[in-house]
Order: sequence, then C-alpha cells, then structure tokens
Amino acid sequence: MPLHHDTDDGSAPVPAADGEWSAIHDGLAAIVGRAHVLTDADMVAGFVTDWTGHWHGRTTAVVRPADTGEVSAVLALCHRAGIAVVPQGGNTGLVGGSIPMNGEVVLSTTRLDRIEEVDPVGRTLAAGAGVRVAAAQRAAAEHGLALGTDLASRESATLGGIVSTNAGGVAMVKNGSTRSRLLGVEAVLADGRVVTRWTPLTKDNIGYDLPGLLAGAEGTLAVITRVLLRLVLPARTTATVLAGVDTISAALTLRDAISAAGLTLEAGELMTADGLDLVCAQQGVRRPLGTRTAYTALFEVSGPADPATALVEVLSDADSGGIVVDAVLEDGHAPRLWHYREGHTESAAAASSTPVVKLDVAVPLPTMQNFLDELSALLHDDFPTVRPICFGHFVDGNVHVNLLDVPAARRDEVTDAVLQTVARHGGSISAEHGIGRAKLAWIGLGRDAVDRQIMAAVRAAFDPDSILNPHVLRFA
Ligand code: FAD
Ligand code: MLT
Ligand code: ZN
Repeated sequence: MPLHHDTDDGSAPVPAADGEWSAIHDGLAAIVGRAHVLTDADMVAGFVTDWTGHWHGRTTAVVRPADTGEVSAVLALCHRAGIAVVPQGGNTGLVGGSIPMNGEVVLSTTRLDRIEEVDPVGRTLAAGAGVRVAAAQRAAAEHGLALGTDLASRESATLGGIVSTNAGGVAMVKNGSTRSRLLGVEAVLADGRVVTRWTPLTKDNIGYDLPGLLAGAEGTLAVITRVLLRLVLPARTTATVLAGVDTISAALTLRDAISAAGLTLEAGELMTADGLDLVCAQQGVRRPLGTRTAYTALFEVSGPADPATALVEVLSDADSGGIVVDAVLEDGHAPRLWHYREGHTESAAAASSTPVVKLDVAVPLPTMQNFLDELSALLHDDFPTVRPICFGHFVDGNVHVNLLDVPAARRDEVTDAVLQTVARHGGSISAEHGIGRAKLAWIGLGRDAVDRQIMAAVRAAFDPDSILNPHVLRFA
C-alpha cells in the first residue's frame, strides 16, 4: 500500500492522506502505547508551531517514546515506511528547526526525562535527552556543581536540545559551548540502529568525535536519547554590575579592566537604550540607571577574594576615566539586574505586531561598533517601520538582532540585508541558535561549496533516505 508520495523538493517522502495512516498509527501505538501517539489537532497544536509563532507545520502524529529502545523501534518503523521524522525537545528553538513542515512525525523526547547519575568525583551528569536544563542545573547544584550551560529558556529547553543546537547561552564566556562539555551520547540513527559513545573519560581518543558531530546537527544525523556531560565548578561568590557606557569600545575597556583586576568573567552581556526602554515598558519596571546611555553592559564576575569590593574599585577608576557613565552593582547573581537582560526575549515578542525576526549573529569584536552603526543606518533608511532591538552575549561577539513589526512580505528582504551586513563584517550568520529553516537560504554566507559538499556527504552517510528533519540545515 503506497504510504507516501515523493515530494517535489527532493526531501523525504510525505504521508499520503491521513486516513491511510491508521496502519502506521497502530504500529506506533504498539511501540509507545496509544496514549503517546497524539493526532488530534488541539493535542498537537503546541508541537507544530515554534516559540516565535512564525513557523507552522502539519504533523500526522506526535510520538512520545519512553526510552532508547522505543525511539529505535519508532525510527525503524518510520524508516521502513519512508516517513520523515522531526526530533523535538522543549520546542524553544528560534530557527524553526523543531517544527514539522508537511506531515512528518514529531518525535518528542520529553519522556526521556530521567536523571541517571551525577558523579561528584568525576564531575559528570548522565541523563535522558528530555531532561529540562533547569532540572539538570538543580541536580548538579545538589552536589556543589553546575551544568555549565545557562540560558533564559532553561525551564523548557532540554539537554538533547542544547546539545543538538550546541547552545551557547550566558555562561559560555567562562564554560565554553555545550559541545565542549559533551563526553558521550546514546543516539538512534534514522534506520533505528543505536549508537552509543559513552565514556566518562576526559581523554578518549579513538576515531572520530561522534558526540561532537551530533552536537549542533539540529536533529539531522540522529535522535539523541541520552547525554553524558562534564559538569563545572561554580564560582563561590560573584558580583553583578549594570554599567552605562556610550560605546562598544568603552564596554570592552571595562571588560579588560575587570580582567586586569584579577576578576573572572562569569558573563558579559550588552543591551541598548531602546532594548532597556522596551523591557521597562513591557515589564513595568523602572530604568536601572539614572542616565540613559547608548549601551548598558551587564558583567557578572567572580574572584579570589571579595569580587564586589574589587569591582567597586574597577568601576571608580573607570568612572574617573570617563569610561562608565553610570552603574549599579549588587552582590551575587543579582536576579533583579539580570531581569533587565533576560526580559528582552519575552518583551520583544510581546511588543511586536508580527512574529519577531530573530537574527542571532556574531561579528569580530573589533568590528562590532561599525556593524551596529551600519545596521542601524541600513534599517533606518530601508526599513523605517521596523523596530530593531539588539542585545546579547557581546563578549562572545554575539549580537541578537531582534526585528519587531516586520511585514510578512519583507521578512526575507530584511533578513538578507542584515545577514549580508554580518558577512561584510567577517561575521557568522548563526552564533548559537543554528540554521534550522530560518537561515537555509543564507548558509552559503558562512560555508563555501566544498564545505557544503562535505557536510551533505556526512548527512547522507548517516541518513541516506533523508528521514531525519529533512527541511532543516540542508546543504544543496
Ligand atoms: P527544540 O527547540 O525542541 O529543538 C531544537 C533543535 O534540536 C531542532 O532542530 C530539533 O530537531 C533538535 N533536537 C531537539 N532535541 C533533539 C534530540 N534529542 N536529538 C536530536 N535532535 C534534537 N539558545 C542559545 O543558544 N542561547 C541562549 O541564550 C538562548 N536563549 C533563549 C531564550 C529564550 C527565552 C528562548 C525561547 C530561547 C532561547 N534559546 C537560546 C534558544 C533555545 O532555547 C535553544 O536553541 C535550545 O537549545 C533549544 O532546546 P529545545 O529542547 O527547546 O530544542
Ligand atoms: C537570548 O540570549 O536571550 C536569546 O538567545 C536571544 C533571543 O531571544 O533572540
Ligand atoms: Zn542568546
């Protein structure tokens, strides 16, 4: 019985009319149980639209397997039937990478939510891919350790998701990317075979780095079912400052002064005056500083002794040096100060009349000021009704260009204008969110033809029938 029709864009076959699927539904239900095969429109609604509200899709079934064995059986079934599968964790991705397009099965990892072990001696965490980031952070903290990756979507994002997008987040400047702390994975290939690379050893140098290859693969090479992560030692005491500055150069001078004082950067974020205004208006909070400056840097620092006292000294020098215009400092992680930064994503989404165009990019730090100035002029001249809100992990060169009120008809045009500007500044069109479906058309701005050919060959070796996430991260 023909269960699918080939699609004209060469991606994986899609199912025939829903009615013919009862055989597949029964097959899936026999594996995971009928309660974990969702088909009703209202039950699947949350799985077929992304966090930004821009990406919508259609699935004929959301499947929620309970363990690696069930994931393997589900993939083997879909592979035999030629039905594409989209892996999905917390669905907080911002490039449309976890959303089915035309009928793919959504394989939700949320039931793979067991924290298996925290090893305080080896400083490792073994957990299911569906464990939420916040739950993993709490489990690590019980042993005086930290996950190492932190991001504002922590309550929903999953460990499989942060590995598959190689998430950066606010702690990357100190702990590196998620990939850098991935010691092992258990994953299921498109045909159902299980690959396990699982060793708590920091040094294990046999063959290719398979875990490293699956990190950042955005669900196109395998479905990750378990992860083994290296944990980090959190700082004993920190201090947090919001510093108003007029230029990027001043923010970088303050960054250097902090390091010169023997303090360690736990985080270095940047906001603009418009972004702070937006957060204050949307969240009903007062501006944090008396003076409105072009930029406000957030630094969280740790140090050998009392970081707050050391930071006060750095700031008073910076003040007299005309680097810092105004500042507010608090002991510790200072949730009140962090809220001004972490409130950006929600505030932008709430304020925009259209789904926010979220362009997560990176530029070399020496060019950041020029980039921001050129971007601001370009948007002002060519897209005067669009509201740009830029913020992000600036010490990593990472700017989150959020464009509000973009008319649907001009999304691609404004995306192209911004990404071309990034490329002209020697930057990357994706700093931490990945490519997904959002940036497919621009992948050539960061990877040349030979590079794309090799990546396409790797993908074909893992998934020759293009079953896994066929519409994401394509290199043709
Ligand atoms: P999903 O959105 O479900 O999926 C993301 C991608 O990974 C998809 O391609 C999917 O197919 C694939 N995938 C998911 N699970 C698996 C699996 N088990 N096996 C194989 N493939 C899988 N991102 C950052 O990097 N830094 C930030 O600071 C940051 N801040 C954010 C703040 C907010 C408020 C929001 C809403 C998002 C933010 N994000 C950030 C984006 C998002 O949280 C990350 O990309 C996160 O890693 C996605 O995890 P998830 O579990 O939601 O994955
Ligand atoms: C963040 O750092 O808050 C997100 O990665 C950026 C965004 O929401 O655009
Ligand atoms: Zn970010």
